[in-house]
Amino acid sequence: MSGPGWFLAGAGCGLLAWWLAQRARAAVVRRAVEAEAALAELRRERDGLAAGVQGATGGLLVCDSNGILVLANELACALAGLPAGAWQGRRLAELLPWPKLVDHLPPAAGTAAGEVAFEQDLQGDPAEPGRALGVRIRPTPSGGCVVAIDDHSRLKRLESLRRDFVANVSHELKTPLAAIQGFVETMQDDAEMPAETRQRFLERIARQVHRLGTLVQDLLTLSRLDEQRPLDGPVVPQDLAALVREVGRDLQPLADKRRIVLRVQVPAAPLWLAADAEALRQVVGNLVDNAIKYTPEGGMVAVSLADQAGRARLEVVDTGIGLSPDDQERVFERFYRVDRARSRELGGTGLGLSIVKNTVRNLGGEVGVRSAIGRGSTFWVEWPLAPPAG
Ligand SMILES: Nc1ncnc2c1ncn2[C@@H]1O[C@H](COP(=O)(O)OP(=O)(O)OP(=O)(O)O)[C@@H](O)[C@H]1O
Ligand SMILES: [Mg+2]
Repeated sequence: MSGPGWFLAGAGCGLLAWWLAQRARAAVVRRAVEAEAALAELRRERDGLAAGVQGATGGLLVCDSNGILVLANELACALAGLPAGAWQGRRLAELLPWPKLVDHLPPAAGTAAGEVAFEQDLQGDPAEPGRALGVRIRPTPSGGCVVAIDDHSRLKRLESLRRDFVANVSHELKTPLAAIQGFVETMQDDAEMPAETRQRFLERIARQVHRLGTLVQDLLTLSRLDEQRPLDGPVVPQDLAALVREVGRDLQPLADKRRIVLRVQVPAAPLWLAADAEALRQVVGNLVDNAIKYTPEGGMVAVSLADQAGRARLEVVDTGIGLSPDDQERVFERFYRVDRARSRELGGTGLGLSIVKNTVRNLGGEVGVRSAIGRGSTFWVEWPLAPPAG
């Protein structure tokens, strides 16, 4: 090939190389742009998923197909006690080594398993016994899983309260029934029983029947309060001052019998409350009855009522046996009695104060106690006043 021929061939090759290089560069740029778009799309999807997980009403954890925790909302971290911000990239099985959870996490567990649900007890926190979480694990199509966590502690506490309540009711029913059965059987076995013994037995039976009646009545009242069932008919405002005076008069004989001075101090003007009269009478009656019952002979019970800036405040002060700080916390619980034997002997079922608390709350009021062992107690109630009747 001649000189110019070589020159032309060389230039052609150079041009081809340049063109090829340009094409390759354009392809790289195009692929980079496409990759960036795909990445942006993935980021958008991930952000959307993260926002969904954060905004979920329950606790949510998301794991990839290797069991690595990739997303977690704040609620899940708080419920499961995960270190905030320090969980990224770690295996969930190590963060939460709960056996039932570990068994169902990827990669070991396949997607075929379907949804798994169980309850996880969280022991080790003495301040919160009975803490429990509801856990549901659902595999995702990509081989990972979503773990939903709910707080079951309240549910568990309610369940345990219900069990205690049923046990208490059964026990309270069993005791008088056993006593009645004993008296009846003795009377049946002894045809020759003297008339006065028979009379004494009948009186005891009548007392136990009365006790059963009171218990059933209290339980019905509590169940009505729980359901917040509206009272039959319209609520007519009641004059609390007149009602407190009336309860004082009704309980005077009991105070006299137990040699206790009962003082009742109420304002002359009426104090109107939008409430059922029977419910109010029960509240005031229970508090004054307790004050008399739990005050030794020779003591004093003072009942006072006042209008305090649009609220009626009732105080029942006694010089009785008093309550320890622990007991002050618990006296409003159903069936709680400081001294079971003593209260039962006095005919108590331990439901009086829980009825008081529920009734007061249903009427938008508050109730509380201040007390010192051996010095006496002050039970107080506050209610919002209503416009006068009529
Ligand atoms: N004023 C008081 N002083 C000391 N202890 C009290 C007083 N009032 C209530 N208690 C304690 O609180 C417990 C619960 O009271 P509550 O009125 O609920 O039940 P109860 O009086 O035993 O029975 P019930 O009211 O059903 O007849 C009582 O058993 C008693 O131990
Ligand atoms: Mg009582």
